[in-house]
Order: sequence, then C-alpha cells, then structure tokens
Amino acid sequence: MTEAQPRVPRKKIFVKTYGCQMNVYDSARMVDVMAPEGYTEAATPEDADIVVLNTCHIRERAAEKVYSELGRLRALKKQKAEKGESLLIGVAGCVAQAEGEEMRRRAPMVDLIVGPQTYHRLPEYVARLANGGPAIVETEFPADDKFESLPAPERKKTLARGATAFLTIQEGCDKFCTFCVVPYTRGSEFSRPLSRIVEEASALVDAGVREITLLGQNVNAWHGEDAQGRPATLGRLIRALAEIDGLARLRYTTSHPRDMDDELILAHAEVPALMPYLHLPVQSGSDRILAAMNRRHTAADYLRLIERIRTAQPDIALSSDFIVGFPGETEADFEATLALIAAVGYAQAYSFKYSARPGTPAASAENQLPEEVKSERLQRLQALLGEQQLAFNASCVGRTMSVLLDRRGRGEQQLVGRSPYLQSVHIEDAPAALFGKLVDVTIEDGYRNSLRGRLHENEAVTA
Ligand code: 5AD
Ligand code: SF4
Repeated sequence: MTEAQPRVPRKKIFVKTYGCQMNVYDSARMVDVMAPEGYTEAATPEDADIVVLNTCHIRERAAEKVYSELGRLRALKKQKAEKGESLLIGVAGCVAQAEGEEMRRRAPMVDLIVGPQTYHRLPEYVARLANGGPAIVETEFPADDKFESLPAPERKKTLARGATAFLTIQEGCDKFCTFCVVPYTRGSEFSRPLSRIVEEASALVDAGVREITLLGQNVNAWHGEDAQGRPATLGRLIRALAEIDGLARLRYTTSHPRDMDDELILAHAEVPALMPYLHLPVQSGSDRILAAMNRRHTAADYLRLIERIRTAQPDIALSSDFIVGFPGETEADFEATLALIAAVGYAQAYSFKYSARPGTPAASAENQLPEEVKSERLQRLQALLGEQQLAFNASCVGRTMSVLLDRRGRGEQQLVGRSPYLQSVHIEDAPAALFGKLVDVTIEDGYRNSLRGRLHENEAVTA
C-alpha cells in the first residue's frame, strides 16, 4: 500500500493597508514575499492564517484605528483557537516602527511587530514563530537593501494587479518638517538605482500595466545611481521610463517644493506619457507658520514655482496638502493660506487638522490650538477647496480626454477610470471588454468628486 503523499499545506495571508500609497505597494510586496512559502492572498481575515495590519502613523486617528482593529483580531484569534486553528497577527508599517515594544504591552496578542524597512524578512519571522519562538519586535533600519531582497524581476509579475501599478523608487525623508513622523518612521532618504526601477517597470508593463505611479515620501528628491554610478534626477528617470514600449502613463507622488528642479519641470512640457497632474504640498500660506514647520520655503517661493511649472505646461492640474491649526496659527496666518489657495486654483487637495505626533518638535510646542478652532478652520478651508475642485471638474465638460478604465462601477455596464488629471470618470454603457483599456471619453458632467462621460464615437465603433 502506498502512503498518501503529504499534502503541501495551503496557507493564506491577509494584509490590510492603512495610509499612503507607499503602504499599498509594501502590502503587495508582503504578499509576494510570502508566495514562495506557499502562501496565497486571503479574501478576508477569517480565511487567513496570517493577518498583517500595514499601518500608518501620520495622524492620530490613523494609529487609533489600528488598535481597534487589533481588538477585533484578538476575538478572531480566540475563535480560531477554539476550533484548533491558529492565527498569526502581525503589525507592520509606521505604527509598528514608532511604537515597537510599547505595542506589545498595549496589544499582547500581536505576534510580530515589523517596521517598514524589514518586512522582506517576513518568511524568516513566520518560520521562527511557527517553531514556537517568542513574539518578534523588529524595528531596526538594517544596512541591507530591502528592495534587493524582494522577489526577482520575473516574480515581480505578481505585482501587477490590473492596468495601474505603484512602484516605490524612493523612501524616507531628510526634510524634518516639525509636524511629521516620516523621518523617524521611514528613516533617512534612500533612492533605488535607475536600472532596477526600469527593470521593475518593464516587468509591470509585460504583465499588462499601462500606468505607473512612482512613489516616494519625497519622490522628487530621488537621486538613484545611473549605469555609471552617478546620481541621476527624477526628470531623467521619467524620460528613461517613458521609453518603455506599452507604458502609456506615468505619475509620481509626493513631491517637496524645494526639490522641483528645471529638468523635472521640463519633463512636464516634453514627455507626453507624464500626466498633467502634480501633487505639490504647501501645507500653509503663512511664512511665519511655514518657518515654524521648517518647510524651507515661503509662500512667494511656492507661487513662483507654480508659475514656472505653468509656464512649462499650462495644462496641468495642481494638488496639495494643507494642515490647519498648526501650533500658534493665528486667524491672519490661516487667511494667508486661504489667499494662497485662491491665488493657485487647485484641481483637488487634501487637508487635515494638525495632529500632535509624539516625538516630533511641534508636538511639544506650548501654543497648541483648541479643537474647535481647528475644526472651524478646516471647514472653511475645505469649502474653498471644494469650490475650486467643482470649478475644475466643471471646466472639463465638453472636452474629450483619455481615460484608463481600471475599476468596475456599480451598474452592470458601468466602468470607472482616471482622466489624465486623476479625476474619476464614470462611464455608462461601457462594454466589459474595455476594462483595463485606455479610451477616449467625452465629458458630459462634472461633479465635485468625479466626472461622467460617454465613449467618444470612435471608441464606440471599435469597442
Ligand atoms: N498633523 C496633520 N497632518 C499631517 N500631515 C503630516 N503630519 C501631520 C500631522 N502631524 C499631513 C501633511 C502631509 C500629509 C501626508 O499628511 O499635510 O503632507
Ligand atoms: Fe514629512 Fe513630507 Fe516634510 Fe518629509 S517633506 S518631513 S515626509 S511632510
């Protein structure tokens, strides 16, 4: 009698992502790095053997959400244990990095706490835990290059999960804005070499990706080595990537005004694949507050920069981040921010109430503002930004623009995509075969948060 072959255990990992797009990229890589160990992606935490929360520490609410999710996972772990099943709970990302051992005390059921710089060692950590090892807290910034330890280019095809993809090219930040945890949680600036990025982008395009968003906390500070070992610039990298056959669209985020050089501005004028959209956070329009934030630019510097960008590429949609209620912000400071917004005219923007982050210089400032003042200012700021966003979207009505259809809408026949300016465009009566394709769309309506359009007649004929 032959013995039954031992079955390879089929195991599943569920990664829940919080926060920025860099975390979305990292979460995908965590799944990739566990694939050779026999893990596939689970659809729900209930279905998983490992659940990893890939966390964000940028504002307080983001971190608090993690602890409430851990409460739910503790209950799930208990239920599973009653059925004789196990659940390994991991916390990755910036909360893990910032809290480290403290998180073990607050949430003792967590098995693994791993910062953003060491998740490529996930298989090793999981093996140690499976062998009955103690809980692991790993928040070092190791010398080895995480990106080089991640799966080889051919396996990177698993990264492509549709027509659009993120590609992290730069990590960390040396700017030390006084409100921000990033320099502490992600460490100092690191740029991946040019050839590696081109390789990864080519693998993504081979796997069907049409649009790549280059990511970095301070992406335009990218200065990766070229083939001669010399530091290159983002403008040059964009030109190199634009050469890849089949890559239709490029974007990059997030940029710092100080790192917006002429080469990058010129790329916006000369590289058709580079989309006419720029997220360029200013945070405040008051020079006093900008100085207290250690932003290293004034409102006038920023406005001059915007003018240079618009001279090079008049058809560009601008976006920004704003913080209201920074310590010591007066009504006059806040009004300077409103004036800057009025002067620029944004296509869209993100805005936040200042949130004191432990360990950052601004958190220990004495002139913290009351919550009501922050809320009231945020409302006024968002009202103005909302008007500008609606005006921008309305100005698109009647235009025909290319849309990359990368999501399914609510209705059977509805597809949703992104315009060159990153607006969501909803299309009724779109044949399912167009999913993942770039099509020409005539815009019929512009709302505050999206556009509605119909396929341009040429598309309708060929579809
Ligand atoms: N409080 C509020 N907003 C913050 N941001 C970063 N740190 C804080 C903080 N402590 C915002 C900034 C940044 C964006 C990613 O998050 O606007 O550009
Ligand atoms: Fe944080 Fe951006 Fe300032 Fe760096 S440049 S410290 S990531 S806000």
